[in-house]
Amino acid sequence: MAVLEIKDLHAQREGKEILKGVNLKTGPGEVHAIMGPNGSGKSTLAYTILGHPKYEVTSGDILLDGESILGMSADERSKKGLFLAFQYPTEVAGVGYSHFLRTAYNALSKSLGDQNREVFLTVREFQNYLKKNLDQVGLRHDFLSRYLNEGFSGGEKKRSEVLQMAVLQPKISILDEPDSGLDIDAVQAVAKAISQVSRKDATVIVITHYARILKFLDKLDYVHVMAQGKMIKEGPKGLADELEQKGYAWLGIQDATEQPAS
Ligand SMILES: Nc1ncnc2c1ncn2[C@@H]1O[C@H](COP(=O)(O)OP(=O)(O)OP(=O)(O)O)[C@@H](O)[C@H]1O
Ligand SMILES: [Mg+2]
Repeated sequence: MAVLEIKDLHAQREGKEILKGVNLKTGPGEVHAIMGPNGSGKSTLAYTILGHPKYEVTSGDILLDGESILGMSADERSKKGLFLAFQYPTEVAGVGYSHFLRTAYNALSKSLGDQNREVFLTVREFQNYLKKNLDQVGLRHDFLSRYLNEGFSGGEKKRSEVLQMAVLQPKISILDEPDSGLDIDAVQAVAKAISQVSRKDATVIVITHYARILKFLDKLDYVHVMAQGKMIKEGPKGLADELEQKGYAWLGIQDATEQPAS
């Protein structure tokens, strides 16, 4: 169980300020969606929370259970239970999929010291656990004998990221467009996996452009709209549908690819 709080966060990449005062607070078991035009800073926010070294926080703070994580490396943050599913997952040659998942799961269990996490004593027990999760996201069992994301199709990579979340059971997961490139059935499977994780009191933040995946969620507590490096609106689940119908112009957002006038 964890509370993530982002306070007036400003961050830049290669000298260009992208986040311009982001505020966000999430509680245990909550599901949040972040929507917003292309280039508004959604992925940047995800990377900054996870501590990607290319993103520099210039002011504001990110607190996990009241403690600032700004001084922590990405590795330390993931050991605290933060997880990011990438918008563009990379292939990792030579790293066996099942070995990777088991190592990551055990490392996280050890650092969290959580008595409620399952303990898998043997490779076989762990593989049985994985198979259930593979079925859930619709990946074939033979993926376990492959290398991480290597040669996976676009949709398989996305399913693989969600599988990692389901297997690792992080405290806070940020999924960056988990629905992009997915076939119709997979969108529903991914939403199911998200709902299951949140039922165990974990927090999930879903970045998406489409209301469709959100409709399949058991519950969705808040929809946030990001534009030009800030959160500009927040609302209940219905806001996603409203955005889909009306677009972003009614919120006073210009084309995201244009520079703001000021
Ligand atoms: N290295 C960089 N140098 C200059 N600008 C950058 C750099 N990296 C990112 N940006 C800019 O930061 C802005 C935010 O990018 P980001 O990827 O966070 O947007 P996004 O909201 O995730 O968009 P999308 O919905 O298309 O995924 C964009 O305008 C992008 O061009
Ligand atoms: Mg993005």
